[in-house]
Amino acid sequence: HIGSTATRRLTPDAAGLAEAARLLREGRLVAFPTETVYGLGGDATNGAAVAGIYAAKERPRFNPLIAHLPDLAAARREGAFGPEALRLAETFWPGPLTLVVPRAEDACVCDLALAGLDSVALRVPAARLARDLLRAVGRPVAAPSANRSGRVSPTNADHVLGDLDGRIAAVLDGGACPVGVESTIVACLDGDPQLLRPGGVPREAIEAVLGRPLRAPGAAGEAPVAPGLLASHYAPRAAVRLDAAAIGEDEAALLFGEARPAGLARARFILNLSPSGDLAEAAANLFSMLRRLDASGAATIAVMPIPRHGLGEAIADRLARAAAPR
Ligand code: TXA
Ligand code: MG
Repeated sequence: HIGSTATRRLTPDAAGLAEAARLLREGRLVAFPTETVYGLGGDATNGAAVAGIYAAKERPRFNPLIAHLPDLAAARREGAFGPEALRLAETFWPGPLTLVVPRAEDACVCDLALAGLDSVALRVPAARLARDLLRAVGRPVAAPSANRSGRVSPTNADHVLGDLDGRIAAVLDGGACPVGVESTIVACLDGDPQLLRPGGVPREAIEAVLGRPLRAPGAAGEAPVAPGLLASHYAPRAAVRLDAAAIGEDEAALLFGEARPAGLARARFILNLSPSGDLAEAAANLFSMLRRLDASGAATIAVMPIPRHGLGEAIADRLARAAAPR
């Protein structure tokens, strides 16, 4: 349930970790850092804890959640890995890749976390603190991004508290998340592996391992397989205008590289995702810069063009959702 007591900030040492694990095993909610974004963790085997995640986030409906595990062996107890899923797990885990596979016969992730699907989304994060925590909990931990539904994903503990203070028991404060965009989600169900969400592992790297292109999501006539992928998402308060060539009245500017839009001098606030044009740096800065530009009070955030290859695909995807009609 949503409590009214303040959320505790736990330190990233042995004591903080032990306390976070204890709370999770008790069915309480604890946000923790992964290499991508902070997750809002709850015991994935405990229906009440999982219901609490949806309530704290104010998710409009029950989207399936990603179950986080400390290693591949633990993941294989929850999901059935075919040869391609295994290959991807062995190559990219631990790391920012989530695999959707058929649920294992004797899986212990609860039905509510799967939102009634017979597949399960599994992830072994690379962040040391996350894996130590998962090992200490000893159960799969369900964790969507630790923001209120529809808002920008959190990449530090202050972002988490801004959205969820008083709604969760604690946040394990491990500083800023190095990748900055969520994991890439690939479904390995029937047929060819499918890219459900671009993210921290570039599509090109996955296709190189598979030796062929990933299938696009939502091919004609198919049911949507990632029900949580709403068009409008990651939305700051300000409107977002993409591929801007010039700065208009009452706009803040989000730059990339050395290009400068016309009328930059009139921008209310200016930030650069990566002055050197590095896409990894841009991904790491994306969500916190959107928050800072939003806080400037500008009516609109004008975003310069950003290349679409590598991590640029995930950046473009998040920006398109931030700019979508609400
Ligand atoms: O990097 C990340 O993935 C972060 C960190 C905390 O690990 N987590 C995250 O979770 O982004 P969330 O809940 O914000 O996004 C999970 C997405 C949702 O769009 C959901 O619909 C999809 O994964 N998903 C989960 N289970 C699925 C399934 N069985 N089939 C298809 N899509 C699924
Ligand atoms: Mg999210």
